[in-house]
This record gives sequence, structure tokens and C-alpha cells, in this order.
Amino acid sequence: MLAVSVFVSGRGSNLKALLESPELKNLIKITAVVGDKINCAAFDLARKFSIPVYSVGNKEGFVSFNELDKIFNELKIELIVLAGFLKLIPGDFVRSFRNRIINIHPALLPSFGGSGMYGMNVHRAVFESSAQVSGATVHFVDETYDTGKIIAQRCVDISELKSPEEIAEQVLKIEHQILPFVVEKIALGKIFVDNKRVRVES
Ligand code: GRF
Repeated sequence: MLAVSVFVSGRGSNLKALLESPELKNLIKITAVVGDKINCAAFDLARKFSIPVYSVGNKEGFVSFNELDKIFNELKIELIVLAGFLKLIPGDFVRSFRNRIINIHPALLPSFGGSGMYGMNVHRAVFESSAQVSGATVHFVDETYDTGKIIAQRCVDISELKSPEEIAEQVLKIEHQILPFVVEKIALGKIFVDNKRVRVES
């Protein structure tokens, strides 16, 4: 079983998709859920599944990223999944878990990413650009927002959609498929980085 931690900031529908994926049931165990808030809906979901939750940050009652690094070594966390986590992961922490942190982004990177590009900001920018397709991207996390190597992408035709909200709805459906897909591939040891590109074995 691959020991996984999921980082969240709000609703937790991607966490739910991972917890409920039949393919992941015997492959991974989510042993820590981390958020940048003291509480959020995703924490409630984690507690329902008896998963320990940690609030990370500099505020009182929160653990620091340094402390989290130690905790994760004790828990033997092998994969970190950012699923709607809004804060930038500090460089030291990224280097400590190099190529073991992935993020889901609700658009087709490298477009519509970067600082401030999260949630409805992304879908509004996509809508106003008049792009005809959008989608979801899962990528490795490096030291800056949304720039790590891309592992998988899926697109959706948005040419007939009438609002950013409609785009968000369609993209979220894809997120709930692509994230468990990538986590499954990682758990099965089917993702490689060679010749500067990520290769996903079928
Ligand atoms: C998702 O759209 C994710 O791609 C983005 O934030 C949203 C989180 O949704 N980065 P949820 O908390 O998983 O429901």
C-alpha cells in the first residue's frame, strides 16, 4: 500500500474521489490530510474516514512545514497529492519530496496557471479568453506555481458553454477521473521521467 497524504483547502471533492476510487482501494492508504485552515469541509470528510488532519502554516496551533517534514518521515509518506491546496509549498519541502508531490490544476497547463490562478479565477480567465477547450492537468510540483512537468491531461469541449460556472462543472468531472488515474499509475510504478518527459506506461 502506498502511503499518501492529500493537501486540501476547502470542499474536498478530489479527496473524496480518491477515497472512493475502487481502483485505489487496495493500492493506497491516505494516512494524513493537510490543510492551510484550522477547519474546512475536506477535514470533516477526512475525519469521517478516521484520517488524521494537520493544519500547516505559521499561525498558532498550526504545524510548520519543517515539522510536517518530520511527521511525514515518521509516517513514511511516499506520495503527496495537492488537491485544491492554495498555498505555495516551500522550496525546502519540495526538495525533500522531489518528484513525490503532484498537483491537480483545473485547466490545460501551461496556460491559465501561476499565482492567483485558482478556483473560479481560472475558469473566468478561460471563459473570457474565448478558448474552445479546457480541461484538467496533473503535474509534478516544483518550486513555483503550476510549472512542474505535466503527467497527464484531459480536455473538454467548452465551445457551447455559457459561463465560467459551467466550465468549472465540466472540468471538475474530469478532475475526479484524472487524479485517481494518475495516483493509480504512481502506485503501480508506471510513471517515469526520462528524456526530459514524463512517460506513463499503460
Ligand atoms: C479543484 O478544481 C482543483 O483542481 C483546484 O481547486 C479545486 C478543489 O476542489 N485546484 P475540491 O476541494 O477538491 O473539491
